Amino acid sequence: MKIAVTGGLGFIGSHTVVELQNEGFEVVIIDNLSNSSEAVLKGIVAITGKTPIFEKMDLREKAAVHNFFKKHNDVAGVIHFAASKAVGESVGNPLLYYENNINTLVYILQELKDLPQANFIFSSSCTVYGQAEVMPITENASIQPAMSPYGNTKQIGEEIIIDVAKATNIKAILLRYFNPIGAHPSAEIGELPIGVPQNLVPFITQTGFGIRQELAVYGDDYPTPDGTCIRDYIHVVDLAKAHVIALQRLLNKQNLDKVETFNLGTGTGSSVLEVIHSFEKVSGQKLPYKIVPRREGDVIEAYANTEKANTILGWKTVFSLDEAMASAWKWEQKIRN
Ligand code: WQD
Repeated sequence: MKIAVTGGLGFIGSHTVVELQNEGFEVVIIDNLSNSSEAVLKGIVAITGKTPIFEKMDLREKAAVHNFFKKHNDVAGVIHFAASKAVGESVGNPLLYYENNINTLVYILQELKDLPQANFIFSSSCTVYGQAEVMPITENASIQPAMSPYGNTKQIGEEIIIDVAKATNIKAILLRYFNPIGAHPSAEIGELPIGVPQNLVPFITQTGFGIRQELAVYGDDYPTPDGTCIRDYIHVVDLAKAHVIALQRLLNKQNLDKVETFNLGTGTGSSVLEVIHSFEKVSGQKLPYKIVPRREGDVIEAYANTEKANTILGWKTVFSLDEAMASAWKWEQKIRN
């Protein structure tokens, strides 16, 4: 059975391609290489021994999307990762985000609706909750006004999918990720941030390797046990496996509604200082860091109530924070040598 994975050479996309292949799916990757490289294909093949079909194309080109689905009209489902995802960049360049995250979604859905099997898995984010009032966060938590154009594209994307599913034969599952970290244990694939990393864990591993002088911790005056922000850091392989399970749910017609939503996290919150200490434990080295003022737009804490995914998808995370940090560190050392 053939599955299309947009952004399949990206961080979460590539790890999901591996898990799809492990489950016997044929995979066709769509990627424009704007935030990834073809070398990732080699990493995937090194792990699974199977070469996915790779279509280099830009989903912003409506005609290209139409031609893709004309050629691959036997696609049984689409897992849609391709999007711009830097919160800060989106504030300065909202039109790039609305074009790249919304237009592309519309073009894909326009084609998918006419396929015999219109199954759609959407990469969403806990960002839609903003600063939720109650921890851990359930899927019923209210959606707060987006704090960035990036977050807004995820909220709008979810609403578009709900409206389209009502009017067509498309069935969808929205997966709201918490904080994806780590790398495949083989160190054949992992996160490849371009330029200065915005996210905590790649900044930590680059600092650990000496590429960055020291980590700036954005505030230790929050109302949390150690004063730093709390997040739910989920190993990317655990996250990838959830995508395959969600897809199989749709393929087997087990979904209870045309659109279902699941939080994907460990269910445990970790502070910035706890992540630093985890890195120091698994790497055996001290991490240089300094406390600086808070970063605009950061929420105090966000970690998932995972009951729905655990009970309905029958999925739960298996990797610990230390294991995730160890895999991230192993990957950093691999790509720098
Ligand atoms: C985590 C914590 C920072 C960097 C973002 C997006 C979210 C998703 C994941 C795409 C925060 C602190 C960070 C640094 C620091 N992306 N930090 N120094 O902001 O929770 O989520 O990435 O879907 O949508 O919003 O992740 O890794 O940037 O920050 O102190 O150099 O680490 O303040 O508390 P975030 P993050």
